[in-house]
Amino acid sequence: MRTVRTVAEVRELVRAERAAGRSIGLVPTMGALHDGHLSLLRQAGAACDVVVMSLFVNPTQFNEGADLDAYPRDEAADAQAARSAGCAILFAPDVKEVYPDGFCTTVEVAGPLTSTLEGAHRGPSHFHGVTTVVTKLLNMVQPDVAFFGQKDAQQALVIRRLVRDLDMPVRIVVGDTVREPDGLARSSRNVRLSGEDRARATGLSRALRAAEQAVVAGERDADAVAAAARATLTDFAVDPEYLAVVDPETLAPRTEIDGDVLVAVAARVGAVRLIDNVLITTTPNGRG
Ligand code: PAJ
Repeated sequence: MRTVRTVAEVRELVRAERAAGRSIGLVPTMGALHDGHLSLLRQAGAACDVVVMSLFVNPTQFNEGADLDAYPRDEAADAQAARSAGCAILFAPDVKEVYPDGFCTTVEVAGPLTSTLEGAHRGPSHFHGVTTVVTKLLNMVQPDVAFFGQKDAQQALVIRRLVRDLDMPVRIVVGDTVREPDGLARSSRNVRLSGEDRARATGLSRALRAAEQAVVAGERDADAVAAAARATLTDFAVDPEYLAVVDPETLAPRTEIDGDVLVAVAARVGAVRLIDNVLITTTPNGRG
């Protein structure tokens, strides 16, 4: 695996691979790698000849300086993990390489996709930071395929919209959420959960499971499904920022469970803000 820090270097390596007829897969990350990231790297390796991973803790998508400062960083461990998961090129630029002096462009996906859920609670500027950096990373590396996780379901939708709206010549693949054995979605922030909070954090995935079970049992009223999930959160002493039953494509609130719905939750557990979601599939008017 080669580690490079400049746009010129990553372009040169990718150009040589492409000239040899090889396809390029990109997995954008902010490091602190866990099994969720590694599963995306493996999917990239299965689908593409050459796997590039970007490692860049993007300051423009953090709305709290403290969260940015507390973001776990260990490039040596990440490099080792990425290599063992099949990464061939690690692109780890400095902030100045991505945002040089004079930088003043923002790529913005407007509308409900960025103003609801995470956008409503973190502010839409979070997603503007994501779409700006993802546009840059796609332009820098110019992959054939880019891989994102369903764990950040809204982010994945926003990126699909971005790529469609700007006619970016890249295929987007969204990989399933990878979880701890007790159900907690893997996240770089999980390492900051202390003993008691770590136990409470399982409340999010349990609540989503309760929502799913309600649908499987025949419940079709979205409020009742949400109430089942909220009751579980209360059992775990977790007070959600939001718990919403929404359309999986538009994120518009749903009142009835008819077809697929996305149930998304965000909550602060101790010092850590966690998000999770589940896609619930039903056959219309049938059992889930
Ligand atoms: P980061 O949080 O490092 O996540 C990198 C990728 O891993 C994202 O696509 C995310 O959805 C995916 N991922 C995280 N946890 C996962 C899990 N438990 N299972 C499956 N996939 C998971 O998301 C970002 O970085 C940034 O916003 C980025 C896209 C890199 C732009 O800065």
